[in-house]
Amino acid sequence: MKTMLIAGANRGIGREFVRQLGSAGWTVHGTARDDKGLEELRDVCAGVHRLDITNDESISALASELRGVPFDAVFANAGISGDVTLPIDAIGFDEMFRVFNTNTFGPLRLLAALKSNLMAGERRLALGMSSLMSSISSNDWGTQQCYRASKTALNASWRSLSEEWRPDGISCVLLRPGFVKTDMTNNQGMDVETSVSGMISVIETLGLSDSGRVIGYDGKDVAW
Ligand SMILES: NC(=O)c1ccc[n+]([C@@H]2O[C@H](COP(=O)([O-])OP(=O)(O)OC[C@H]3O[C@@H](n4cnc5c(N)ncnc54)[C@H](OP(=O)(O)O)[C@@H]3O)[C@@H](O)[C@H]2O)c1
Repeated sequence: MKTMLIAGANRGIGREFVRQLGSAGWTVHGTARDDKGLEELRDVCAGVHRLDITNDESISALASELRGVPFDAVFANAGISGDVTLPIDAIGFDEMFRVFNTNTFGPLRLLAALKSNLMAGERRLALGMSSLMSSISSNDWGTQQCYRASKTALNASWRSLSEEWRPDGISCVLLRPGFVKTDMTNNQGMDVETSVSGMISVIETLGLSDSGRVIGYDGKDVAW
């Protein structure tokens, strides 16, 4: 039986991962930030854990709670868009830090804290959530300064991690969900079912030779 921990599992893409992986026979642990989110996951996850990915103490508490629990995959899915309505001259340091702390530093700290859980698992997949918006070469319309930069930085960090952890047999892969109907997009885009089933097909085939890639729900890479 395959096991995955999904960070940010209570709604959106993470919630659909819980549903589809559960149906496919995976054992799924999910995280949420508050009581309401935890309650919503209780009946559908094998393990439910409180986590704020921006908070070091919260990450340490999760690592203690999960000590000795093997995972085939840990998926740092949690993310925020930030306030995308702000013009560049109104984006202050606090907003920049909030977005980077959630989208870039949080995933790295989470995976570092749970490395021993991955080492104890069979497939050893360190998964994060990228975006088409991370691609510098396909950015020909601007907008969403913080979000774009945070995901580009995530790509760079995951690529470094992939080299650092290759000797340990851990595959560090980022997924790209497409433009998906969730709260983040004000329910615009493709159905979450289609995006997630595509990403699960990708996950099923991942191996060490994929480490360092950013792979779309359609199985395709986008130029950095
Ligand atoms: N939707 C798209 O079109 C799209 C496209 C490209 C990439 N993505 C990426 O896909 C991932 C999921 O996005 P989504 O569309 O499913 O968004 P969503 O519906 O807004 O869900 C975001 C999830 O992340 C959690 N989260 C946010 N901040 C957190 C924190 N500090 N600690 C722990 N959990 C936190 C949220 O928990 P709360 O309920 O507590 O807020 C929620 O579970 C994100 O990384 C996003 O950047 C989405």
